[in-house]
Amino acid sequence: MSIFQNAVNADLPRAIAGKGSYLTLENPKTGAQYDILDGSSGAAVAAVGHNHPRIVQAMQHCAGLPYIFTHAVGSKQADDLAELILSKSNGAFSRALFLNSGSEANETAMKIATQFFYEQGQTQRCNFISRDFSYHGNTLGSLSLGGFKSRQVPYKEILNSKAFHKVSTCFPYRHQKDGQTEEQYTQMLLDELDAKFQELGPDTVIAFVCETVIGATLGAVPPSKGYISGCRDICHKYGALFLLDEVMCGMGRTGTYHAWEPEFEAGTGGPDIQTVAKVLGGGYVPLAGVLLSPKVFDVFQKGSGIVYGHQTYQDHVFATGVALEIQRLIFDQNLIEECFEMGKYLGMALKRKFADNPYVGDVRGRGLFWDVEFVADKATKEVFPASMNLAGIMHVRCIENGAHFLKGKGTIDSVLGDHMMVSPAYTVTRVEIDRMIDVLANTLAEVLAENGYN
Ligand SMILES: Cc1ncc(COP(=O)(O)O)c(C=O)c1O
Repeated sequence: MSIFQNAVNADLPRAIAGKGSYLTLENPKTGAQYDILDGSSGAAVAAVGHNHPRIVQAMQHCAGLPYIFTHAVGSKQADDLAELILSKSNGAFSRALFLNSGSEANETAMKIATQFFYEQGQTQRCNFISRDFSYHGNTLGSLSLGGFKSRQVPYKEILNSKAFHKVSTCFPYRHQKDGQTEEQYTQMLLDELDAKFQELGPDTVIAFVCETVIGATLGAVPPSKGYISGCRDICHKYGALFLLDEVMCGMGRTGTYHAWEPEFEAGTGGPDIQTVAKVLGGGYVPLAGVLLSPKVFDVFQKGSGIVYGHQTYQDHVFATGVALEIQRLIFDQNLIEECFEMGKYLGMALKRKFADNPYVGDVRGRGLFWDVEFVADKATKEVFPASMNLAGIMHVRCIENGAHFLKGKGTIDSVLGDHMMVSPAYTVTRVEIDRMIDVLANTLAEVLAENGYN
């Protein structure tokens, strides 16, 4: 093995093929091949399934297109993709640009937000506010923006702690106090955000950044009622920008094209800047996007007219051409409606399966974006010891038992607190969902029994 992979010494099974919700894996030692269900579409990415004939055909077509440096030459593919996304956003966005990863998209969003104020002479604005337990990417800037401590520890000394400030996350299952209503919980968080603006000096803040529905760190956590719109109101009260990271939860994953749609009154727009990725390229191409509201675009258009910095593969012709076909497929086949309906089935099936399980504390999610959080004690919400590595073992064992899910750890303190995410393709069938849930439940029982929990 020559690849320097995440788990340096692991001999991982290799994917050799895929079709719809299925992956074919190969054991690198024995050569044995077997099929598993992709219960999480990788990391909530492969929304139209693997090896979709229409996308494969589009890829063949796009393979003949030239590489261009989009600093100097444009492409119809990138422009059409931007136009399609804008046309499905009800006026919330005026322009889009495309990069290669969610991390890059968040880096770029932070730079655009900073330049937005630079263009207006507000150079005193130099602070970002984001949330504890958040993940916004793996580059140094996006890691500084994030608040998931265990992912930051080795790099702590080189991360930027001067410009990046944190407030509490919105996580009702663990942080809403006994006797506190949802409205009171939301208000408590909004008061904290407002106080953070005051502490930093309201006119020093560039933007507040959060995920609309929290993804991999805490596991498919929808915001409490009124939270997202309340955050936007506070940002605007202080003249700052409101930036949503929908890298994981966006592009239909939660049952609406943008996860923020149910959070705002219709017709009042969305965030000032939004990042998207995963479902944009659907696993076929690495692609991410930054979407700009009319307010932000206007300042650039009327200001210097220049976006500082450009990347070699920005608005890449092949990647945007393929992503365009993926987005067209999603709309032509009403896959977001499908995701919404199938999501209701998945949510109900998960809740039914785990309702009486003493080791499942919470089942939460929206659309086809769900999470099951494990606890050693349902009443106290006490978690399993780190030494058990429950999510890590579950991840491996579920694959052996026939399904892949995204593992998660750290709902308590970014280390302790195990959970698994279920986020299948929008094309998943009920039969496939039932099989996925059986694998998850049976594997949980198996692993817990081995550790003396019956
Ligand atoms: C919410 C969120 N933001 C940013 C990122 C970073 O995206 P990428 O891994 O494509 O760099 C991720 C990745 O999981 C994410 O979930």
